[in-house]
Amino acid sequence: MLATSLSLLRSLPRRRTRLLLAFLLAVAIAVPVLGTTATRAAAAAPGPCDIYASGGTPCAAAYSTTRAMFASYNGPLYQIQRDSDHGTRNIGLASAGGPVDAAPQDSFCAGTTCTITELYDQTPNANNLPISPGSSCPGCSGSLSGPGPNGSDIGADAMALPVTIGGRHAYGVLFNNIGTGYRNNAAKNVPTGSQPEGIYMLTSSNLVSSSCCFDFGSAETDDSDDGNATMNAIYYGSACWTGGCTGPGPWVGGDLENGMYFSAAGPNPSSIPSETGSFVSAWEKNNGTTNFTLKYGNGQSGGLTQSYSGALPNGYNPMKVQPSIELGTGGDNSPMGTGEFFEGAVTRGFPSDATENAVQANITAAGYGNNTTTFPPPTTSVISLKAHANGKYVDAPNSTTSLIADATSVGTNETFTMVANNNGTVNLKAHSDNQWVTAENKGDSPLIANRGGPGPWETFYLLHNPDGSVSLRAYNNQHLVTAESAGASPLIANRTAVGPWEEFDLTPA
Ligand code: AHR
Repeated sequence: MLATSLSLLRSLPRRRTRLLLAFLLAVAIAVPVLGTTATRAAAAAPGPCDIYASGGTPCAAAYSTTRAMFASYNGPLYQIQRDSDHGTRNIGLASAGGPVDAAPQDSFCAGTTCTITELYDQTPNANNLPISPGSSCPGCSGSLSGPGPNGSDIGADAMALPVTIGGRHAYGVLFNNIGTGYRNNAAKNVPTGSQPEGIYMLTSSNLVSSSCCFDFGSAETDDSDDGNATMNAIYYGSACWTGGCTGPGPWVGGDLENGMYFSAAGPNPSSIPSETGSFVSAWEKNNGTTNFTLKYGNGQSGGLTQSYSGALPNGYNPMKVQPSIELGTGGDNSPMGTGEFFEGAVTRGFPSDATENAVQANITAAGYGNNTTTFPPPTTSVISLKAHANGKYVDAPNSTTSLIADATSVGTNETFTMVANNNGTVNLKAHSDNQWVTAENKGDSPLIANRGGPGPWETFYLLHNPDGSVSLRAYNNQHLVTAESAGASPLIANRTAVGPWEEFDLTPA
């Protein structure tokens, strides 16, 4: 077999030779030699970034909460912080180049809650991902705020996404709360401008959304929308901003800024109505001028399916990528996407199909399993709201008049469809004009039903008060909605505490 392999090697071009060598090395380590026991157990198999390097497209940043991305890596994977005493702890590997040792997390977090506060870059670039600064970073004036201090984002619950890898227990990163996001706005040695770039991540369709944006990859250094082509990230979800998509999704797309593209024109291929699995590998590569390519695969078995390869959308050539790496939000810190993350990397250069196939084989060989955490889907109900301020019903007469509590009975104008998301937030759609209620002007102006879809301004936390009433806190400015002037003026999100004007009876209509 060795002789056959060597003669095969001599006949191949250099890059393919390197790939084949990496593959043979993996096989040699994984398959015990006949008649011997595991005498080579100490040597770790190549990781995804060894394969990318062999293919001539090295990882510029690589993260995982479940395993090493290089055979030689023996550092920490991520940092957690516990609520009880705010102590922090790094979670590392069971062995160099191997899977995570999650046991220290279980004891450290026993009896309290723990948050993932940083994902460590396993490349020498040290492009670590702390919790995103959101709108509080220098120059982030165009950024959407996160729910954390000073508009920063928040970290994921460290215990919320248990899985196994190679039979060992591990945790993924769960993005189920609005504004969960990680970011490095000064990433080193990553592709910029129109330099070619490859990205992959291992995610899951167990938790997806049609909101913006569960992303991983390159984004703007100022957390702001700096225009078309200023980001190059994988988007995974079921949003179809361009219209024309087929099927329910989710799909792997390219978030290239101001659009998540499943093709140059936008929509997914009609032959692929969804890309699902409890582990889904998602792939995007972009040569910066003439081609971007999207693929997906089952993270537990099999190969990759290419869903698109071709021209960039109009207005995206050349790319203008900035040196920032983000995970969990849109480029402008749009905070509404939900998803799961287990591992992923950003490469310098446009990876070959052979390299990506070898990385996919490496992922399936890692033995991911038991991703069984389920999430309730959003629920929908038809409701009315009666203000405690004056005992009148909230009225949304049309798309040009603000909401006000001035009705004595419930008709179409006082009826709303309420979508309750699985993170404690709701969106309200007025029946009068079928438009979503927005806290206009980031909450500075009264509520009005004039939006075509729910985004951050159209999202409210639903608070349940001890007396059975509810209050609404606008996501964007975190202020409570009040029936201003005891109900005589329109509803506006400008209060910091709940009193009678901020209380409403929510009744099925
Ligand atoms: O491209 C889609 C989103 O649009 C980006 O992630 C965000 O920056 C903008 O809102």
